[in-house]
Amino acid sequence: MKDDVLNGLFRPQSVAVVGASTQPGKIGYTVLHNLIASQYQGKIIPINPGADEIMGLKTYASICDVPDVVDAAVIVVPAKYVPQVTRECGEKGVKGLMVITSGFSEVGRRDLEKEVVDIARQYGMRVLGPNIVGVLSNSDNLNASFAPFLPFPGKASLVSQSGALLIAIDAATYTRRVGFDKLISIGNMSDVDFADSIRWLDDDENTSCISLYIEGFKDGRAFIEAGQNARKPIIALKAGVSAHGAAAAASHTGSLAGAAKIYSAAFQQAGVIQATDLDNLFDRTLALSLQPPMTGDNMLIITNGGGVGVLATDAAERFGLPLRFAPDDVQAELRKHMPEFGSAKNPVDLTGMAGTDWYSKSVQFSYAHPWVDGLVVLYCETAMTDPMEIAKSIYQALQDSGVKDKPVTISFVGGEKSAAAMVWLVEHGVPAYGAPDLAVSSMAALREYARSRKFLQETLTPCDGYDADSARAVIAKVREDGRSVLTEIEAKQVFSAFRLPITTTRLASSEEEAIRMANEIGYPVVMKIVSPEIIHKSDAGGVKVNIKDDAAAREAYRTILANAKAYKADANIHGVAIQEMAPWGTEVILGSVNDPTFGPTVMFGLGGIFVEVLKDVTFRVTPVTNGQALHMLGEIRGAPVLAGTRGEPPRDRQALASVLCDYSNMILSLQDEISESDANPVLVYAEGKGVKVVDARIILKKKG
Ligand code: ACO
Repeated sequence: MKDDVLNGLFRPQSVAVVGASTQPGKIGYTVLHNLIASQYQGKIIPINPGADEIMGLKTYASICDVPDVVDAAVIVVPAKYVPQVTRECGEKGVKGLMVITSGFSEVGRRDLEKEVVDIARQYGMRVLGPNIVGVLSNSDNLNASFAPFLPFPGKASLVSQSGALLIAIDAATYTRRVGFDKLISIGNMSDVDFADSIRWLDDDENTSCISLYIEGFKDGRAFIEAGQNARKPIIALKAGVSAHGAAAAASHTGSLAGAAKIYSAAFQQAGVIQATDLDNLFDRTLALSLQPPMTGDNMLIITNGGGVGVLATDAAERFGLPLRFAPDDVQAELRKHMPEFGSAKNPVDLTGMAGTDWYSKSVQFSYAHPWVDGLVVLYCETAMTDPMEIAKSIYQALQDSGVKDKPVTISFVGGEKSAAAMVWLVEHGVPAYGAPDLAVSSMAALREYARSRKFLQETLTPCDGYDADSARAVIAKVREDGRSVLTEIEAKQVFSAFRLPITTTRLASSEEEAIRMANEIGYPVVMKIVSPEIIHKSDAGGVKVNIKDDAAAREAYRTILANAKAYKADANIHGVAIQEMAPWGTEVILGSVNDPTFGPTVMFGLGGIFVEVLKDVTFRVTPVTNGQALHMLGEIRGAPVLAGTRGEPPRDRQALASVLCDYSNMILSLQDEISESDANPVLVYAEGKGVKVVDARIILKKKG
């Protein structure tokens, strides 16, 4: 493994407990007890100035007195002593600190937290925490925490920002029979964060799936990058997605929780699967830790009960994997293993008469058939069958098929015997659930994982061909004028430097010039007031559309100037914009924000009522790939409008996606200048006819 320092923290050969206590009931006592009780094979070294020996182990007054090498130190002394202890650990050559102690940034003591990290950095140490429960690892028999015991063993590893939740999950792994190798509490993330943990766990031979409980990030982009580079599935439960929940999360950890939509976008861009709640995190972790990804869309369901089959069918649609009928050859073969009144379509209903023979034959055949990309097997407990025998026959059939690269999930609906059979299946590496929709949802997670990996292989639209220098020159001029809002003409100059298809727009400073320009552009034209002080041009009576000839242009010019003066007498008027009148198209909006967690981020939605009333918008962190842009167009509720409805031809989604990519590149490359911007409206024409940006707005960041 590459990171020797993090190895020392997460897989230490020796652990010191600084603040190991002689008194039962204290955290320093429990941590030492847990290390011993978990049968940790490395060296355990208690540090306490008032004791020579604790729990039979030689105890040192200071870590500096320890003669042996110490990889990791668990720190359980009050907060005010932590900087001093950190320095002593540094002098001793400790690699990593697990700072259990609370009382740092989560209660406003950022200064103390920074002091600890600064000292650690001087010595090349890494800091986990502070404000953590500790680290638990089955493969190393390491319980360096005050959680009660090592988790139910398995291949997933969990990283949790909440210590209390980690303890709760630890206990629940036994009741739910979802196995974990490591539980890592990262608390305030003063140093080691989610990105570090993901990178390290991705290299950890004992971890097959990385589960995360997240309240907020300090560096969202580092998380996205770590997710994109990971070779193992990552599943995240993000807390604080409601406005109120976000406030609670922020006060809990001292970090900012961002908007739910931006987090969802970031997870998708990072290739991270999202869990909706704690149950869902467990269910999906089970599947992702035990099964390979589902690389195609064909899910086959085999059942002995019509009811659970229908529930599974509903769930398939809900989770984005609608069922297709199996091809004729598959149906013909399956019909051999069911009575006449069974169904070989999909779900395949073997009927209540199904015993081990029909289950095993239909499972073995279907699992091996190339049409099937993922298999879901359902069973309802009947008086004629024994759940354990059914479970074993299914398992044997899967083995006999010789297939290893396809996922399978199972649901047994019944009583205690079914529950025992499912435990047996999970212990044999087959995820099994008490309800059919859970088996389907978990299969959907395996499909989502494969899809997201495919997305990540896509390359970004190259940033070349843009004229960023000329865009910056426009911005510099605006700053020289002491302004932070660009006029429409200036904003469009910046947009066009990034190849965005703006409507032809010229600035006229006299009536005669306006008429000349209108003729050059060609009637009909639109005329608009250009003034840094008049942002809402329509409200000021500063916009006239569908101007068809010279007389109308002359009239419009005068009216616009008069209206603007009436609206704001001292407004600095640059002139009147003469603009090509773009033909009608579907109105969409592009926007950008500087998210505190993820930085420059773009938004897309349908314009007008869709954005204003329904808030039907979607986000991506910049830069946006072409595939992601197309995905954005499909994920808003109003997507059918772009696909073409009620006799309207489909809109030019390819052109719109490429405009989104260019826009995202503009926002990213001018991130030091642009605070927010939008293109509204953007008109999208029929397929092959392109897109026009009709209005553009840019607000600059405040500088100095
Ligand atoms: N070096 C070594 N040992 C020391 C030092 C030192 N510099 N200073 C003190 N000690 C010893 C003490 O003598 C004591 O041992 P003793 O009981 O044998 O005398 C031991 O360290 C602990 O010191 P105390 O002063 O008794 O501190 P206490 O145990 O009360 O609290 C603790 C320390 C647990 C770190 C506390 O400050 C704290 O932060 N508690 C909250 C921790 C927590 O919950 N973290 C997880 C958050 S996540 C979640 O919500 C679950």
